[in-house]
Amino acid sequence: SDTDVRPALTLLIAAPRGFCAGVDRAIEIVERSLERYGSPVYVRHEIVHNQYVVEGLKAKGAIFVEELDEVPDGAPVVFSAHGVPKSVPQEAQRRGLDYLDATCPLVSKVHRQAERQIEAGRHILFIGHRGHPEVIGTMGQVPEGQMTLVETMKDVELLEFAPGTELSFLTQTTLSVDDTAAMVEAIRLKFPQIVGPKAEDICYATSNRQAAVKEIAPGSDLVLVIGSPNSSNSVRLVEVAEKCGTEARLIQRADDIDRAWLEGVGTLGLTAGASAPEKLVREVVDRLSEWRTVEEHTLVSAVEKMVFKLPRQLTE
Ligand code: F3S
Repeated sequence: SDTDVRPALTLLIAAPRGFCAGVDRAIEIVERSLERYGSPVYVRHEIVHNQYVVEGLKAKGAIFVEELDEVPDGAPVVFSAHGVPKSVPQEAQRRGLDYLDATCPLVSKVHRQAERQIEAGRHILFIGHRGHPEVIGTMGQVPEGQMTLVETMKDVELLEFAPGTELSFLTQTTLSVDDTAAMVEAIRLKFPQIVGPKAEDICYATSNRQAAVKEIAPGSDLVLVIGSPNSSNSVRLVEVAEKCGTEARLIQRADDIDRAWLEGVGTLGLTAGASAPEKLVREVVDRLSEWRTVEEHTLVSAVEKMVFKLPRQLTE
């Protein structure tokens, strides 16, 4: 209306953003398990790293635990999208638990690669972030001592192996595309005989979301990334925006936005990590619209059509 005095805000929304096919599938596995088995269904670890998603599933009857020993005998249990060490399904089998594996197929692919490299007699360098559940899961695919975690350039410098050691490398799926390329280059320079994937194992969703941020960040005064602090791919999106020279902040939802951040901001970039639902994007846009006259622009840098099949237990 002509009495509207909210100052203008141009919003550049990245596409693709938010849910990837692996997250979609993992959430659907929990929902369908609840329908099929009734509640409670146990979930080992946050199914995906998003509190809103986890709370929503809790309300439907899911119980989240950190370890299998918290799951009572006879109860169904779902393993999270990040994947689990081999010992986990083994233990579930030993206890006769009905388990469903929501490991993203792109993570499982890296797991199988790890096994193959060990069978071929190679020691594996694994590029990833220490402590992340995906890293724990992937390292847990091979016997202890056969995979070395490499987190930084410094780690690459310090690597030393007995002459004749055959090497290969694999990576976490949610790393920074640019940082990993540099690390792989350093590794290949140091160990020219190393066997590895063509580029790395970073998944399509991670690389698409990073490329999309590069489209919105340069023209923005501030970038907001919706995602959890423990979501690797979301934290990487903040870093990518910052590398474009734009201030960036990670928020879980609209309530986290401090209105003072918007002072002097004429153009705001907005995106969401692979585990953040679109509902939270709309919530942020609505909040911004209470304060400013928002003009939305979506910058599409890729169109994703990936869909992963559900486990057979749920489709039969
Ligand atoms: Fe899978 Fe990549 Fe999503 S590994 S869970 S598609 S972020």
